[in-house]
Amino acid sequence: MTVCEYRAGLEGIPATQSSISYVDGQRGILEYRGIPIEKLAEQSNFLETAYLLIWGELPTQEELKLFEHEITHHRRLKYRIRDMMKCFPESGHPMDALQACAAALGLFYSKRALDDPAYIRAAVIRLLAKIPTMVAAFQLMRKGNDPVQPRDDLGYAANFLYMLNEQEPDPLPAKIFEVSLILHAEHTINASTFSAMVTASTLTDPYAVVASAVGTLAGPLHGGASEEVIFMLEEIGSVENVRPWLEEQLAHKSKIMGFGHRVYKVKDPRATILQQLAEKLFEKYGRDKYYDVAVELEQAVAEKLGHKGIYPNVDFYSGLVYRKLGIPTDLFTPVFAISRTAGWLAHWKEQLNENRIFRPTQIYTGLHDEPYVPISER
Ligand code: SDX
Repeated sequence: MTVCEYRAGLEGIPATQSSISYVDGQRGILEYRGIPIEKLAEQSNFLETAYLLIWGELPTQEELKLFEHEITHHRRLKYRIRDMMKCFPESGHPMDALQACAAALGLFYSKRALDDPAYIRAAVIRLLAKIPTMVAAFQLMRKGNDPVQPRDDLGYAANFLYMLNEQEPDPLPAKIFEVSLILHAEHTINASTFSAMVTASTLTDPYAVVASAVGTLAGPLHGGASEEVIFMLEEIGSVENVRPWLEEQLAHKSKIMGFGHRVYKVKDPRATILQQLAEKLFEKYGRDKYYDVAVELEQAVAEKLGHKGIYPNVDFYSGLVYRKLGIPTDLFTPVFAISRTAGWLAHWKEQLNENRIFRPTQIYTGLHDEPYVPISER
């Protein structure tokens, strides 16, 4: 066996072989199953993209119809899950609520048959169908309202906005949300996907796999950055304050939220599309007052940190899109999770096809053969 050098954060170390997605970080290219993200954003919808990621090929019309039908009819939550959610503190973060609910599904569907394609399909359907309902239900419950039941006549994206805002969205916001779901669905071996794969490799159930990934996505260095971006733009407050604010952050060696990426050394292609989506929404519904601050910050960061390859990542413009869609700031990461569930499940399925438990090694830096000092002598 070749002994590799230690790389903090496993930078550059291949952790698996995968045919699900591909990133070229120097050229700003992202493909799902070989199809450029721009084409999917323009021509696909979220469930078709999820199918592509999970089953490896674009579905036929019949296959897509069946998939959409099954998901539409599994959106409702068991009343005991809703009752459980009622006990959650309304001050708690929705990502914690989502993680608990995803794990709780394992209590209801405890029979595990990882070598049965019907079991795999049922788990995929259930998770894709119910996670948006969980996110919307928690939002309404913490406001003291009853959750809104999903509407079978609405598509995946429109139904989520309907359950969240208690009114049917216009076609443009529904379409833009759909594209945003496509953009966030998969991204090679990012931290939450790696977490999902490690959990999957123990042959536990898919609900535990998704719950562990949700917990990982929540952190501010990963999916949690999108809400931090909004707090940051609010703190900056005005275009005039961008450069002095940035100078101060850099002097304190603080990270600028929504910027930088382990793989991309250019602007994340998803950020480019999300910025265009934000502009489309602003054209119709009015400009977000922080958009100009964001554009100025992008410019200022490029001047200061461009030489290090630090440019906007997916989390930089997503929050400005979500705000215009009426999504509260602390739901940005749960919304990311709704979409990324497709990628996590694709990797779960791929992992099961050729499983070996993840068990890396370490470089021990501690002591050896130390004396045991009795407590009275310490
Ligand atoms: C996502 O991996 C994925 O694919 C993730 C994701 C997905 O779809 O799954 O794309 C989604 O998680 C996007 C990233 C969201 N996070 C943020 O926006 C938080 C801010 N960015 C970072 O902290 C950082 O850039 C990371 C966490 C995204 C990447 O971290 P790395 O690869 O470990 O880089 P690093 O922290 O070691 O930084 C390398 C250098 C350092 O400078 P030097 O010490 O070498 O001089 O770049 C600098 C850093 O200081 N740097 C930044 C910076 N990010 C990196 N400096 C200022 N602001 C930043 N945001």
